Amino acid sequence: MTQMSDKMSMDILVVGGGGREHAIIKKLKESPDCGKVYCCPGNGGIAADAECHPVKATDIEGMVAFAKEKKVDLVVVAPDDPLVLGMADAMEQAGFLTFGPSQKAAMIEGSKVFSKGLMKKYGIPTAAYEVFDDPRKALDYITEKNEFPIVIKADGLALGKGVIIAKSLDEAKDGLHTIMEEKAFGKSGNQVVVEEFLTGPEVSVLAFTDSKVVKPMISSMDHKRANDNDEGLNTGGMGTISPNPHYTPELAQQAMERIFLPTIAAMNKEGRPFKGCLYFGLMLTPKGPYVIEYNCRFGDPETQVVLPMLQTDLIAIMKAVANETLGELEIKWRDGACTCVILASGGYPQKYATGKEISGLDEKGQVAGATVYHAGTKAENGKYLTAGGRVLGVSAVGKDLEEALGKSYDCVKKISFENMHYRTDIGRH
Ligand code: AMP
Ligand code: GLY
Repeated sequence: MTQMSDKMSMDILVVGGGGREHAIIKKLKESPDCGKVYCCPGNGGIAADAECHPVKATDIEGMVAFAKEKKVDLVVVAPDDPLVLGMADAMEQAGFLTFGPSQKAAMIEGSKVFSKGLMKKYGIPTAAYEVFDDPRKALDYITEKNEFPIVIKADGLALGKGVIIAKSLDEAKDGLHTIMEEKAFGKSGNQVVVEEFLTGPEVSVLAFTDSKVVKPMISSMDHKRANDNDEGLNTGGMGTISPNPHYTPELAQQAMERIFLPTIAAMNKEGRPFKGCLYFGLMLTPKGPYVIEYNCRFGDPETQVVLPMLQTDLIAIMKAVANETLGELEIKWRDGACTCVILASGGYPQKYATGKEISGLDEKGQVAGATVYHAGTKAENGKYLTAGGRVLGVSAVGKDLEEALGKSYDCVKKISFENMHYRTDIGRH
């Protein structure tokens, strides 16, 4: 739906409540057009920047009712689950200018069977794969292939944990059992994709697209493993740097020609035009960039290093995406680098304690010298307490990677809570 708003000051609702949403809100607030900002459900630290209300991010009816009550001018649906459930459609139907893809377009993240099929059909480079809905057939296939490691992925959303890299037949058997029989990720595990293991540096490229043009943002690199030297379990992300030093202009050109443009065209052809932020998880293989995954949203913690580098007004970009006029807008990025170190609760991504008092933050939840994006925090009696696995992201911009990392880590040292855990080697690999 194309809508024009003449009103200069826009009241905005951001759906979600993690570090990514905090970064989006802080950037929106830099715009001279930014009016009141609401965040549902938000968190302790976001409350210093936006009015938070306890509407669940997946509560479509509740969220639409809230947007109506506050008469907001723009809705930003940030997390994957409400998008896959159709929240952007519901907001548009209710008449709101909305940033975020439709349910049909969000399928590009919501189903790996769909996204792999799309890439195969349109010749977009990705790992060779097969789909199974029967764990025995999957195991027979893996046994016969007898090439390890092999990658097993749950079809649906799995909080970033539905990927198993099996180094042996036993690990593959266990993985299939966890996903397809124990149903560790519920219905998401009704089908699996079994795919070839690729090697090479990984790059995250978030891109704005209005389905007509695609404008990649500055590149970034996530660090997914819990511990230094890329050891330990996979997490939602323990730190990020931007730009990604492996992503040369030549590779960016290849990715544009072989991946970004063909993906936008493929989604249009399939009757699923994508409007919003499309996240390309790429692997730079010896044969060029391959797609590891698509996400229908901003990455977390990629957003915490990408948006600080953005110079163009984010409200103007979001309006242009929603109104399909992105081609008319020039998007500018600053020079230098940005880094984000995640402070997590000890034990994350497995069991961890919450409710620990965080020391070192000022009353707005910040420290001098960096920007602290709150992920899992709550505010109580003038104090900040931990309330999740990933607690804070400490982001800093510098003239180069070294300077940004120095600032991030200097500020990390000012913050503490019981059992705080962070990686000391972000940007070092
Ligand atoms: P995803 O949740 O799809 O991002 O996968 C999580 C991580 O698993 C990725 O960031 C990669 O490091 C790894 N991964 C996924 N697919 C493959 C693959 N085909 N080959 C090698 N590593 C992979
Ligand atoms: N950082 C990975 C993701 O947002 O999916």
